[in-house]
Amino acid sequence: MTQHRSRIAGVGAYVPPRVVTNHDLAKIMETTHEWIVERTGIEERRWVDPGEGGAEMAAKACREAMDKAGVGPKDIDMLVYATLSPDNNFPGTGVFVQRLLGLREVPCYDIRQQCTGFLYGLAMADAFIKSGQYKTILVIGSEVHSTGLDMSTTGRDVTVLFGDGAGAVVMTRATDDAHVLLSTHLHADGTEAEILWTEYPASRQHPRITEEAMAARKHYPAMQGKKVFKHAVTRMPAAIMEGMVTNNLKLTDIDMVIPHQANLRINQMVAKMIGLPEDRMHNNIQKYGNTTAASIPICMHEAVELGKIKPGDLVCLVAFGAGLTWGSAFLRF
Ligand code: UT7
Repeated sequence: MTQHRSRIAGVGAYVPPRVVTNHDLAKIMETTHEWIVERTGIEERRWVDPGEGGAEMAAKACREAMDKAGVGPKDIDMLVYATLSPDNNFPGTGVFVQRLLGLREVPCYDIRQQCTGFLYGLAMADAFIKSGQYKTILVIGSEVHSTGLDMSTTGRDVTVLFGDGAGAVVMTRATDDAHVLLSTHLHADGTEAEILWTEYPASRQHPRITEEAMAARKHYPAMQGKKVFKHAVTRMPAAIMEGMVTNNLKLTDIDMVIPHQANLRINQMVAKMIGLPEDRMHNNIQKYGNTTAASIPICMHEAVELGKIKPGDLVCLVAFGAGLTWGSAFLRF
């Protein structure tokens, strides 16, 4: 039996044109540019204008990824859409992307692993390609956070962090060892799921949301920031080490680390903890904030465009987020 392997054949990204600076936020809530930059590194983010959804953004990112990969809508065998902010409660947003792109009647998954969603999607696509069932798969991360954030001072700890955007890759069957996904390493631990979550609307309640719940602002994301920070700076280095051991790699073998963009300080600490020189980690949270499932493909896309990731380079992707979920992926680009 032939053992297939997968590779990333093209990367695309799209962010909405509306730039929202820290100074803009300081006009609507009690915060400052200095506080946000000092704690997170974020200077601005993109927010959609009313009417623009995750599916439209994703379709734009997919079209670019498909162009780069040299494939068309008829070549796509499956689609995985990672998000924590689906356009509607149901159906999943993936089918809307399928429709916009004019794909065949292929399976469309929506998956919900927040900041680690893109890596979970990559691992799924890899498994389907390895099994021989499908050859070419779109893996998407797309988020519209801005319409679900608390714009008052009460929500400032979370609201200043998040941005909207989409990123996508085309995964296809590898034909040689020079361009190949080497391994993925996924983890989850639900014991502290509530330290980063949005509690309402909740299908365990009838009605799913009440005026009381809204008055208590429970339909907005809530985070125990310091706890999440501590987990992030422990789990991300561990996930990188796990992949290095699996692939028998030294730190000097890694050309570029693309971490999830939750906080520049977290990523700088991760680099320091594993002894990675700053120029071998690419960050762009300064411009886009935390775009959750979209952050890794948006960041990887930028690194490729800047020539910081070249064909054949050894790349490590690493993420941590709500769930809690975390993981890494190692590939030769
Ligand atoms: O992508 C998913 C994973 N997410 C993460 O990894 C995020 C992890 N956590 C973090 O990045 C950090 O915890 C934050 C950046 C979110 C917050 O930084 P912190 O140093 O943990 O701040 P804090 O929440 O403990 O708040 C410190 C102070 C508080 O004031 P007092 O109580 O000391 O008077 C907050 O009220 O800063 C205040 N504060 C703000 N001030 C100005 C909180 N948010 C803001 C704000 N502007 N936006």
